[in-house]
Amino acid sequence: MKLVVYLYFSMIVLGVQAWPSVKRSFELFPNPAMPHNVHTVSDCMHVASEAGDYIFKKLNPLNSALNREAALLELEVAGAAAVGVVPGEGAAAGAGAGAGTAADVQELQPEVCGLYVIGEPDTIVEITMKHYDANCETGALMAFVDGWELNGEYFPGIKDHHRPLEERVYEFCNNYRQWPRVSNKKFFRSSQNAALLQYRIPVRGSFVANVRFHKITQPCNVLVQDTAAMYKMTNFGQARNCTISALFPAVVSLASLRIGGKSVRAQPKVNYDCQLPSDRLEIGGAAGLDAIGMEQASAVCGASSDLGPEQAIFCGVSTVRLVSSGRYQNQAAIVLRKADVPDMEIATLICAL
Ligand SMILES: *[C@@H]1O[C@H](CO)[C@@H](O)[C@H](O)[C@H]1NC(C)=O
Repeated sequence: MKLVVYLYFSMIVLGVQAWPSVKRSFELFPNPAMPHNVHTVSDCMHVASEAGDYIFKKLNPLNSALNREAALLELEVAGAAAVGVVPGEGAAAGAGAGAGTAADVQELQPEVCGLYVIGEPDTIVEITMKHYDANCETGALMAFVDGWELNGEYFPGIKDHHRPLEERVYEFCNNYRQWPRVSNKKFFRSSQNAALLQYRIPVRGSFVANVRFHKITQPCNVLVQDTAAMYKMTNFGQARNCTISALFPAVVSLASLRIGGKSVRAQPKVNYDCQLPSDRLEIGGAAGLDAIGMEQASAVCGASSDLGPEQAIFCGVSTVRLVSSGRYQNQAAIVLRKADVPDMEIATLICAL
């Protein structure tokens, strides 16, 4: 009994003594204060809103459990192989059919997938490639996009971004022919709360991408992730167009408004049909991401601090865009929520499917 107590006690003492050295060894790792969230990238379109490490690994296109499409194709291959084994043809013919289908699968256009990162409205996204194995020679390619890309359309829209598209998309892969090998680390920052890491890995490859968010003071373009929230838009007196886009049909109302020159703001009622070239808030939607292609339901200017009427935008992407010439200090507070079937009655825009 005495011995047990002694052992127990000495373990505590040893434990206490061991602690400082253990602690010190942890400090050898970079960023000890950072919470270490690790996520596995499983879907081809993987939406990420948390900071941390995002890990992707593809061992082989036909048996990667991570790749749902590949798994489906594998089933098809198995099915085709099974169909191949018909009486009279024999097992050899069946195996031949199976192999042929597998080769066909590899010849299919390799899929482009993406880690779609979205943060709070007043943040920008930082992505550090801690590791990547995307061999250029096997057709693998990765790209960082300053914004989101879907079906060839970008958020923020090509004309609404201060950087040209060539500068917003940075492609990279491992060129193992280069010697000495260039550093395998890459570091990117977006201009708004949305960023995209695209990858096309036809054979095998992997990456570890660390995602962080940084607060900014003058957000302009914002991709909406909440299904109900209020957003403040302002041009800070600058000549710029700022867009808020939600990837769902939305009900929009204005909580407060101050847009345009003195004479516009002095009008007793908010104008929902402001003509060009005045500063205005465009409310509308589109099937795709780029606000340039959007259909307009209203163009608002004037001043009010009363909650305005609700209007529903039934489009794949609902958009509110503040167009500012730079002559006025414009600001608006927008209440946005997901539209439901009963909101059809207040629809001001229904996009073609
Ligand atoms: C803002 O948009 C308007 C109309 O959509 C356009 O005429 C103007 O050039 C844009 N301004 C900037 C700074 O991009």
